[in-house]
Amino acid sequence: MDMPENIHEQAQALRDVASGYALSKALYAVAEARVADFMDEAPVQVSELAERTGSNEGALYRIMRTLACLGIFHEHDGHLFSHTPVSRLLRADHEHSQLDGVLFRGLEFYEAYIEMPHTLATGASSFERRFGMSMFEYLNADADMQTRFQACMKSDTRAQQVGILEAYDFAPFASIVDVGGGDGTLITAILRRHPDTIGVLFDRQSVLDQVRAGPGGVPRRCELQDGDFFTAVPKGGDLYILKYIIHDWQDEDAVAILQICRQAMDRSAKMLVIDAIFGPPNVPNTALTLDLSMLAAVGGVERRQDEFVALFDRAGFALSRIVATNSPLSILEVMPA
Ligand SMILES: C[S@@+](CC[C@H](N)C(=O)[O-])C[C@H]1O[C@@H](n2cnc3c(N)ncnc32)[C@H](O)[C@@H]1O
Repeated sequence: MDMPENIHEQAQALRDVASGYALSKALYAVAEARVADFMDEAPVQVSELAERTGSNEGALYRIMRTLACLGIFHEHDGHLFSHTPVSRLLRADHEHSQLDGVLFRGLEFYEAYIEMPHTLATGASSFERRFGMSMFEYLNADADMQTRFQACMKSDTRAQQVGILEAYDFAPFASIVDVGGGDGTLITAILRRHPDTIGVLFDRQSVLDQVRAGPGGVPRRCELQDGDFFTAVPKGGDLYILKYIIHDWQDEDAVAILQICRQAMDRSAKMLVIDAIFGPPNVPNTALTLDLSMLAAVGGVERRQDEFVALFDRAGFALSRIVATNSPLSILEVMPA
């Protein structure tokens, strides 16, 4: 990584990180006001955007010109702004919309990070310190946050699933179980591409009740089964998917989940663990910021390849290959050892 050369640049590098909250909340504010929804192809006057979103024109201009320097919106002469490919993802109607992910990250998670010194001192989750329970306990108890969390996961998966479907051939599998599959975004995309495949979406009851009641739903070929993956998961699938599951848990819990899956699987079945994997030191990598979320908010941990292999070994699996995707996620394919 390039190091700043002089004292000014070195001090500024620290100030930029120390003020990271300014950009985070500026982005949250324009997302919450739905500014992006009022912009299309042609440049728009900031005064018009302010009027349509009920915003203060001066404040909106100052926020948008700063975001524009980061590639979020593009500023033209005369206080006009247009979309960039990045800012277009803030539109609610974009097929890969990231709006719900930006909104979710700006509320309870943002607040949880205030407790980072406690996490540093103890290793315990900032979220738990702030809200008195773990994130998953909180989600189970608060239907509104559960809805917003699942919408956030959906927005993440929307952007990742294209790369996952391109990188891995799901055709050989007649039945696929998505363990902790959330609102079913990934299993739905897989089943749509493979019309003869059947699926099971497995998650906690509070999540699947929302899927049952919600408008979108999953294809009829996908059964909904609720339960607790520390107790049992559906038996007999040809392929099991655990996307963004293992990173939510410390090693003991992660091994327990893998062992429960192993008990449900036939010897010929395969499993895909889909997570970020750490790269070499000192090089920016999405796994690093995700890992801070795991540390402060979720209580889990991102891992190196050898750490995954050790978990698989303890749970009775062997890594057969790692398939890179064009997202920060890798697909670790494992089989019963
Ligand atoms: C980080 S989300 C990942 C969701 C989805 N796989 C994705 O990648 O978008 C973790 C999921 O695990 C589910 N989960 C957490 N604890 C669980 C448990 N004990 N049993 C079953 N599912 C659980 C959550 O409800 C949530 O949907």
